[in-house]
Amino acid sequence: MSIEIKAADICSDYCQSDQIIGFGALTETEVDFGVGSVSRLADHVKSLGGKKVLLVTDPGIAEAGHMEWVMWILKNQDIDVLTFTDVRENPTTDDVSLCAKKSQDQSIDLIIGLGGGSSLDTAKGCNFLLTNGGEMKDYWGSGKASQEMLPLIAIPTTAGTGSECQSYAIIADAETHVKMACGDKKAAAKIAILDPELTLTQPSNVTSHTGIDAISHAIETSVTTKRNDISYQYSKLAFDLLNESFESEIKNPKDIEARSKMMLGAAYAGTAIESSMLGAAHAAANPLTAQFDIIHGAAVGLMLPHVIQFNSEDSDTKRIYADLFEGDLSGRVIDLLTIAGISRELSSYGVDKGNVPALIKDALSQWTGTFNPRTVGEDDFTYLYESAF
Ligand SMILES: [Fe+2]
Repeated sequence: MSIEIKAADICSDYCQSDQIIGFGALTETEVDFGVGSVSRLADHVKSLGGKKVLLVTDPGIAEAGHMEWVMWILKNQDIDVLTFTDVRENPTTDDVSLCAKKSQDQSIDLIIGLGGGSSLDTAKGCNFLLTNGGEMKDYWGSGKASQEMLPLIAIPTTAGTGSECQSYAIIADAETHVKMACGDKKAAAKIAILDPELTLTQPSNVTSHTGIDAISHAIETSVTTKRNDISYQYSKLAFDLLNESFESEIKNPKDIEARSKMMLGAAYAGTAIESSMLGAAHAAANPLTAQFDIIHGAAVGLMLPHVIQFNSEDSDTKRIYADLFEGDLSGRVIDLLTIAGISRELSSYGVDKGNVPALIKDALSQWTGTFNPRTVGEDDFTYLYESAF
């Protein structure tokens, strides 16, 4: 089996390509990719029978003018819009409940998530509550929604999480801060619109952090215990695109070809996550975000070189890393972090060695760590965190 990616999609014509790309092997999400693709939004909404949509986004996206543009496209085609603009980074159960409360009894027939992974995850989470009731933790895990869900259109404005190609919403418990992965095939977007132009307005630190996150997804998915031949092809394709274009994107933020490759790479990496999940870098990073507010991309990025070295003790994993990148992969990640201007030292984020036991406790409870190619126990997390000082 192959993932049927057309050669025309991996050429220098990224900017103008409006072809639908071969994501179909792992996800049923239809992808509309290319500069200006968001202008086709109303057609997509109508094709899914949408008449009154809930638009979920964050204040930054509203400020950047994207929300206004999207609303104009919809209203111009007589589609009613209810907006929820209160998305916060690393959304919690409270955020999702608020979104659902605002939109219930409003005859919403389609949901649009516009923004970074937090907006897309809030939109997905809200869909669970609106259509299946209960609370987010009822859907923690996979396939727990019994009722049909509303069609979702995902419009990412960052090249990062790849949430647009996943059926999982990552929602943190508001009290415990534990990140719950709540997934169901019905929750995946029906259509993902990948318009690289939408990433042009993002602040440079968002570009750098989301880019590192996407790169970490390509690397972590390539070696997990749940990987398969198809998911590996997505991981590899994602890594090649991201590794090739990240530096250009950072140095020249207006480089639309680099932006296009990053967006596509992030979506391919996100597609790989759908079946292969993630590994120890994410397990070690999530507690850093929960306890010290370290931005997700920085937290994952700074742990990743140590996780690569740790995992390389396993010969199969070492072989896969070598196939993914010819050369020293952990060294390459360190170079990319330097390009991104992201510190690799935990102490620079206000973490000291006395904090390690609490971090380890939290890391051991992370579901994602269970898919790491090498088992990661208490001693291993101690080694990983201490390596990062
Ligand atoms: Fe991530």
